[in-house]
Amino acid sequence: MKMIGLSVMLMLLAGCGQQRTGTTIDPQDAAKVARGQAVYAASCAACHGARLEGQPDWRRRKPDGRMPAPPHDDSGHTWHHPDEILFGITREGLVPGKYGPPGYVSDMPAFGGALGDADIAAVLSYIQSRWSPEVRRAREEMLRNRGR
Ligand code: HEC
Repeated sequence: MKMIGLSVMLMLLAGCGQQRTGTTIDPQDAAKVARGQAVYAASCAACHGARLEGQPDWRRRKPDGRMPAPPHDDSGHTWHHPDEILFGITREGLVPGKYGPPGYVSDMPAFGGALGDADIAAVLSYIQSRWSPEVRRAREEMLRNRGR
């Protein structure tokens, strides 16, 4: 029962703000996750780590004032964000005043030119497929409490 409720929630969450089903984030979709794993290795691993572990000392600002790439696994804060925000950050980068504070400067590239929406959905499906059941449950509850 609980599992069914969770997957329905995830489907509802993933559906927000995305019209085409090909661009839905779905960590249960094995084909999407496999495609996303390849996209991750090619486009994300260099900064976010081959095992999603992030850059060393990722909580500490670098000498240039910018933040290192955080982990995408349970230990990071990627899972704190709803799907549409993760999608937007990947497509547009950490746009100041939208996904970051006004004037914010970030090393996170915008992938909208390099990756289609289906690839972005696939890579985020892969990342989410690596989260533990505990983190997925905590995320579902957090997003529900925010009224999403
Ligand atoms: C050139 C290095 C680099 C590459 C390549 C890169 N990122 Fe990032 N990413 C960053 C950095 C640095 C941050 C932290 C930005 C900040 O806080 O200023 C970040 C942050 C993010 C965040 C926000 C995480 C959070 O919890 O706020 C997401 C989502 C993200 N990246 C997804 C991706 C995805 C998906 C890919 C591959 C398609 C990718 N990134 C490739 C450097 C990179």
